[in-house]
Amino acid sequence: MKIAVIPGDGIGKEVMEAALHVLKGLDLDPEFLYAEAGDECLERTGTALPDETIEIIGEADSTLFGAAGESAADVIVKLRREFDLFANLRPVKSLPGVPCLYPDLDFVIVRENTEDLYVGDEEFTADGAVARRVITRSASRRISRFAFEYAKREGWSRVTAVHKANVLKKTDGVFREEFYRVASDYPEMEAEDYYVDATAMYLITQPQEFQVLVTTNLFGDILSDEAAGLIGGLGLAPSANIGEKNAIFEPVHGSAPQIAGKNIANPTAMILTTTLMLKHLNKTQEAQKIQKALEKTLEEGLVTPDLGGSLGTMEMAAEIAKRIEG
Ligand code: NAI
Ligand code: MG
Repeated sequence: MKIAVIPGDGIGKEVMEAALHVLKGLDLDPEFLYAEAGDECLERTGTALPDETIEIIGEADSTLFGAAGESAADVIVKLRREFDLFANLRPVKSLPGVPCLYPDLDFVIVRENTEDLYVGDEEFTADGAVARRVITRSASRRISRFAFEYAKREGWSRVTAVHKANVLKKTDGVFREEFYRVASDYPEMEAEDYYVDATAMYLITQPQEFQVLVTTNLFGDILSDEAAGLIGGLGLAPSANIGEKNAIFEPVHGSAPQIAGKNIANPTAMILTTTLMLKHLNKTQEAQKIQKALEKTLEEGLVTPDLGGSLGTMEMAAEIAKRIEG
């Protein structure tokens, strides 16, 4: 198993070191292919994403990405495009011992990652600017199928499409239509759809109702950060960018320059990110081992300052690694 490792900038490097320490506690012995990207790389080499890094990702079975700084948008957007990573997966799962709004959540947001307003086709007009919103049938089908397959594999019974087809009749009309077309291939699965504004409210008032949400790029971006807020915030939120051939796993947070270099970043998001990767590589048992060890560590309060503890990033990782059961 070859895993490309891109630590990146700031706390990206610290949480990556912590996560690799935990990963090395398993009997997997993967080959790590180190690569660089981000601000420091830009400064040293003149590019934030060298060709060599792209080659290494292409060679690997999977990629772990820490965080980049100011160049993050360029790096990750370019990688999503280069490898056609069409699905952005954001699990929302409450963790024990973590102060949060809801201690009992377990759902996932599947966000379309390649089109919508994020195609970046904007132009100035005489009185402001306009942006093009691109929603294709093929991308809508592909993301819907991904959501149903994921739901089936993970044992969910319901998939909810989120859109605004009452106002965006054509674009979101296409998305909703293709969602239900795909849904008809999964008669054992419940399919429903909600408006995005109502969903934003239900995420606050009754988030326990959700299982798998699937939505377009912009709505998914916003709703998934809202959802991360329900379970304790950025230091705890993992994500995956998945394509047909490649996949890149990264925590939701950035390089956090204010706390970088102090060994106080919470490694939880990056460690959960590695469990997502392991599941994607069909190493479900290994993913569960890490999840359990992490939960024990959190329950015992052996955590970083953001969660009220006094451990450093690496010390917390060491406690998690110690609790991995053979
Ligand atoms: P950020 O996620 O780096 O930090 C936001 C807040 O959360 C800060 O107060 C930070 O201290 C805290 N935080 C984040 N991760 C944490 C962790 N693991 N443990 C404890 N506290 C944590 O986002 P911000 O401040 O908006 O951006 C900082 C830099 O990161 C910018 O240069 C931005 O471009 C980049 N960025 C990169 C991303 C990526 O590589 N995918 C994503 C988001 C931002
Ligand atoms: Mg975002």
